[in-house]
Amino acid sequence: MAREGAGTTTGVLSASTADAGMPRLAIRGLSRDFHTRNGVVHAVQGIDLSIAHGEFVALIGRSGCGKTTLLRMIGGLLPPTDGSIEVDGRALWRDGQIDQSAVGMLGFVFQESNLFPWFSVLDNIALPMKLRGVSKRVRRSRAAEFADLVGLGDFTGSYPRELSGGMRQRAAIARALSTEPELLLMDEPFGALDALTRERMNLELQRIVLETSSTVVFVTHDIPEAVFLADRVVHMTPRPGRVRQILPAEFAKPRSVDLQTETAFNEIVRRLRHDIDEEE
Ligand SMILES: Nc1ncnc2c1ncn2[C@@H]1O[C@H](COP(=O)(O)OP(=O)(O)OP(=O)(O)O)[C@@H](O)[C@H]1O
Ligand SMILES: [Mg+2]
Repeated sequence: MAREGAGTTTGVLSASTADAGMPRLAIRGLSRDFHTRNGVVHAVQGIDLSIAHGEFVALIGRSGCGKTTLLRMIGGLLPPTDGSIEVDGRALWRDGQIDQSAVGMLGFVFQESNLFPWFSVLDNIALPMKLRGVSKRVRRSRAAEFADLVGLGDFTGSYPRELSGGMRQRAAIARALSTEPELLLMDEPFGALDALTRERMNLELQRIVLETSSTVVFVTHDIPEAVFLADRVVHMTPRPGRVRQILPAEFAKPRSVDLQTETAFNEIVRRLRHDIDEEE
């Protein structure tokens, strides 16, 4: 499914501002404090990170190291205390206000699928397009295409309660992809799934991301999952939430589950596990 073709069909995409030299996402000196009854929490402090077009970056680190806080700032849900985020060279936040024109570029998948129970799968997937004023005819056909893409083509008329956890999560992914976000932000999207479903979802996500050339920031607690999916793994440490190291995972794509038996793969997993364990 070509991005350009889809964009001209729906009219929901801004013209591609892709520029070979410019990162999709440039984060500089990014910090976020929370003022609580027990004092100030430095949830995220001094993060510098550039993410290229089409790159898949995984964020990993102990609970409370600021992964969700970082993702929410990138996703326009939480203003930074300090620093900047640029999307294609344009500031995302200005004086605590989000640049509305950038919001359309973003897609968010949360740990819980957050589908609306009274909407069918098709209507759930179509909702972001409806909010963007896409005509009913176009959004229904696009939603059906995206349902197909995540393997829910036969379930467009079903309601969330009639789906398994993995199917609900796939519907949430289809919903996030339906506006063809330039930047897909995923916060432990597969955390609630069993191991086999999770493995299938990893393969499916890889396929969709390669097909749509999306840029992805993906939070997970699962180290092999991070190394399997990502081009680079960003390891964060808590109090304050900082980037400790960035490890490249330079394996050819598409990757098969067999990659997980290879020495080079397991060396990166072992190193991350060791470094995260050391933090206790
Ligand atoms: N709204 C808030 N008010 C006060 N403190 C907050 C708020 N949100 C996050 N924090 C604090 O910021 C720190 C980072 O939290 P965050 O949720 O970003 O961590 P995380 O890495 O996503 O953790 P987990 O892996 O458990 O999801 C934590 O100490 C948390 O208590
Ligand atoms: Mg979190």
